[in-house]
Formats: sequence, C-alpha cells, structure tokens
Amino acid sequence: MVTINYIVGMLSIVTLISGRGSNFEAIVKTAQKERWLVKFTGVIANQATAKGLDFARSQGIPAFAIEHRDYLSRESFDAALIQQIEALGANLVVLAGFMRILTPGFIRHFEGRLINIHPALLPAFPGLHTHERALEAGATEHGATVHFVSEGVDEGPIICQASVPVLPEDDANSLAARVLAAEHQIYPRAVKWFLDGRLRIVGNQVQIQPPESQLIKL
Ligand code: GAR
Repeated sequence: MVTINYIVGMLSIVTLISGRGSNFEAIVKTAQKERWLVKFTGVIANQATAKGLDFARSQGIPAFAIEHRDYLSRESFDAALIQQIEALGANLVVLAGFMRILTPGFIRHFEGRLINIHPALLPAFPGLHTHERALEAGATEHGATVHFVSEGVDEGPIICQASVPVLPEDDANSLAARVLAAEHQIYPRAVKWFLDGRLRIVGNQVQIQPPESQLIKL
C-alpha cells in the first residue's frame, strides 16, 4: 500500500532559534519517538553561542549561525536567512525562541508555512517579559500559544494554546517553568498537525480537520 506521505515525499523543517532551544529539542524528540516522516534539514541561530546548536549537532542536524550583528539592516539579515532556509529546503519554518523581529518581506515569503511559539495566552501579553506581566496583572491563568506568523509582533492565526494556573506562591521563574513544560507539549503537537496537512487558515482562525481541541488545560 502507498501512503499519502510517500506520495507527497518527506516534508522538511528548518528551525530558527536564539538560545537554549528546548522547544526545538522537544519537537525533535517527539518526532523520533513517534517516528514522524519528516526531515530536520537545518537549524539556524542568530548567534553562534546559542545552546540549541549543540543539540542539533548531537543529532546530526545541520546547524548554522547567521549573526544578526554582521548585517547593517534587518532587511539584509532577513535576506540572508531566506537564502539559507531556501537552500536547506523547508516546507515548514519553525520559530522556537527566535528573538528577532522579522521583516514584512520575510513573513510574506514564508506565509502559511511559518509558525511561532509565544509564552502567553495570546492575544494577552505579546512581546517580552510575559510571566512578570501576567503576575503583575493578577492573571489567574497563563500559558503558551502556537500560531502562524503574520505581520505584527506575536500576531497571527492561533493553532493551539495551553493554559496553566497561576499559583499564589508563583514568581516569574516558577511560572515560566510551568509554561515551558506546557510549550513542550503543544509545539510538537502543532507541528505534527501541520505535517499531516490538517490545518487550514480561514480568515484569522485556524481550523483542524478532523476537529480536535485547540486549547489544552494543564
Ligand atoms: C520560549 O519560552 C518561547 O516561548 C519564547 O522563548 C523561549 C525559548 O525557549 N519565545 C518568545 O518569547 C517569542 N516571542 P527555548 O529556546 O528553550 O525553546
């Protein structure tokens, strides 16, 4: 029997990181455990010291640093990124803690195949310091969001979210740890949905076929 995956060929993922790369690691380990038909064709960091590059190398995944400091403008940096990503071949570009604002040109280039994870329940708390801001706001729930990337910081159609309780004794570190554990659950799940061709963007919403809950309460 010929499977659909065989017909369309093995899909490829390029991941962009800036640091630790624990979300990238969670995706790769889930793919290995669940034997996904996918090829991780490369990881690119905007600084050579990014720890996630070491994990990539340990797995035989090509790892590259394209230092943003070496470029005079965001446009020229993003052009270099596009060139490298296209050279590697990417059906899906995964932003996993990539802490650079991308230009509209980059976002349009990869529209519909560019996804991001953000450590908050968007549209609440886009931007930085989400855990501190959730505590300051007295939020009783916090969490993480995986979304397609559109122009605008931390914006775009939401694929899935995980919510976690904010506990009375929480500080930013304990809350960040609880959210990160949730991130490691939803990012592999969202990537798999994409690879399986189950996602459809309708307006500013994402539909999953067959339907499945897009909000996980942890
Ligand atoms: C994660 O918490 C991710 O949600 C966040 O950076 C961290 C990266 O951790 N991303 C953003 O804030 C993007 N707006 P990791 O390198 O261990 O995956």
